[in-house]
Amino acid sequence: MAYPERLKNYCEAVEAYLNSCFAEETLPQTALLQSMRYSLLAGGKRLRPALVLEFCRLCGGDWEKAIPIAASIEMLHTYSLIHDDLPCMDNDDYRRGRLTNHKVYGEAVAILAGDALLTEAFSTIAASGADPEVISACVGILASAAGAYGMVGGQILDMEGETRTLSAEEVQNVHRLKTGCLISAACRMGVAAGKGSAEQLAAAERYAGSLGLAFQIRDDMLDVLGDEKALGKAVHADENKQTFVTVYGLEESAKRLAEETKTAIEALSAFSDTDFLVRLTEALATRNT
Ligand code: IPE
Ligand code: IPE
Ligand code: MG
Ligand code: MG
Ligand code: MG
Repeated sequence: MAYPERLKNYCEAVEAYLNSCFAEETLPQTALLQSMRYSLLAGGKRLRPALVLEFCRLCGGDWEKAIPIAASIEMLHTYSLIHDDLPCMDNDDYRRGRLTNHKVYGEAVAILAGDALLTEAFSTIAASGADPEVISACVGILASAAGAYGMVGGQILDMEGETRTLSAEEVQNVHRLKTGCLISAACRMGVAAGKGSAEQLAAAERYAGSLGLAFQIRDDMLDVLGDEKALGKAVHADENKQTFVTVYGLEESAKRLAEETKTAIEALSAFSDTDFLVRLTEALATRNT
């Protein structure tokens, strides 16, 4: 199956699943559920779920059975975006082409919507119907990637970068933690769902290490070069931050992006039928959204 068609299948399947979540209209906490759905269904790229589903397929699994697991990481990612946009964090007004969650529902509800999406991500894995060893592996992978030693750990280092100078290594570590960890979790959850081998897991990890870095380098470049409308979020929002671009400059960032993209693609040689991931990885290096 061609790359665009497969991507469309993955995105539509995940979208349909997410659309069925938190849809009760008669519960007393309906305001919370509405605010969760507001951010969850705002049309992100759905990169992390697509990685889960494709790695599952490459390892010989049935990707359709992994849809709840793919949706779980999108819930967790959406929580990270809601909290990232809060006034006490990046203080952003637009996300995914619409007003940020706290702008619409207020800060207290936005914090709670994030809390609930984080927690429901794990409920979703638990209730996914996958085999117990798959559930246990995915819970462990997602929890460790999202927590103090992963995404949240990266977010605090990113914040600290507003008040002290970070070394180039430190900036790279921020990227690895705040963005790379969840991208790596997506790939590894896919391998777990597809019951891949230890070799496949190691290759997925290598691929994700480079892709995660490449992805955040491009995000930092788009903060300078991007178009607000296409991105669905403000540009020049990171001027008080230390990003790949502020530390290395645009030219060197573009060079590093190309190198990491190449390294990521090389790591895929451990799999067969990698056309989809090669095309996806290349497309992400030149993305404008
Ligand atoms: C944005 O992630 C935050 C980063 C980790 C750079 P995405 O660029 O994947 O955002 P969506 O999901 O498409 O909105
Ligand atoms: C976000 O990094 C990483 C997260 C964990 C959410 P950024 O703060 O650069 O992401 P954007 O640019 O707001 O999407
Ligand atoms: Mg941030
Ligand atoms: Mg931000
Ligand atoms: Mg950014």
